[in-house]
Amino acid sequence: MSVEEAKKKAAIQAVDDYVKDKMVVGMGSGSTVVYAAQRLAERVKKENLHVKCVPTSFQSYQLCVEQGLPLTSLDVNPALDVDIDGADEIDAQLNLIKGGGGCHVQEKIVAACAKKLVIIADYRKKAQILGQAWKKGVPVEVIPLGYVPLMKKLEAMGGKPKLRMAVAKAGPVVSDNGNFIIDVDFGEIRDPRSLDHQIKMLPGVVETGLFIDMTERAYIGEENGQVTILDRKIQKR
Ligand code: A5P
Repeated sequence: MSVEEAKKKAAIQAVDDYVKDKMVVGMGSGSTVVYAAQRLAERVKKENLHVKCVPTSFQSYQLCVEQGLPLTSLDVNPALDVDIDGADEIDAQLNLIKGGGGCHVQEKIVAACAKKLVIIADYRKKAQILGQAWKKGVPVEVIPLGYVPLMKKLEAMGGKPKLRMAVAKAGPVVSDNGNFIIDVDFGEIRDPRSLDHQIKMLPGVVETGLFIDMTERAYIGEENGQVTILDRKIQKR
């Protein structure tokens, strides 16, 4: 089973289990969510569902438009029934590292407005402890004015900070919110809650990619074609 097939299986199962008629659904960002949007669009047509989607990034907005999914916003619908999103890493307690695609600020705001955050991912994303599988570090979105002092402060906290650079543009990545992103390698993160708090206390930090105690369930597409379901307390297949 290819990684793409694993992502697709997880996405389909999550959409089928969680999305019901008249729901307001958070649409996450990244490559796995593409399969969720496709499945939701299929179900909307077949089952005549009346759902509304809140996008979590410009990519997610474009995805909803392409799939013909009705859009809404947090201004109109500040309470969501469910938010379906991807992750860069998922630990045994379902804490996450997100932001590999640079969308974690909007993703965290939307997730915090949803009754349920459901994560879809392939088998490469699982870890016992954050930092074991995802080696690029914790994404931290910062106000551009503060990026140099913030890199020094993040280093003093034991991290190895790197300003994320754009690929098809000269200079740094600029987020959907007009900010910079610093990826900070902290090695294995034993206490992600406290790390999240410490980083957020630094003036100029907008948000971290650590999502602590937010996830209700994760669907993991496995190499053998199965989908593992991880619930925050109980783990079952
Ligand atoms: C976007 O900033 C991220 O938080 C994504 O949700 C995460 O990177 C997952 O992306 P993939 O589904 O492409 O792995």
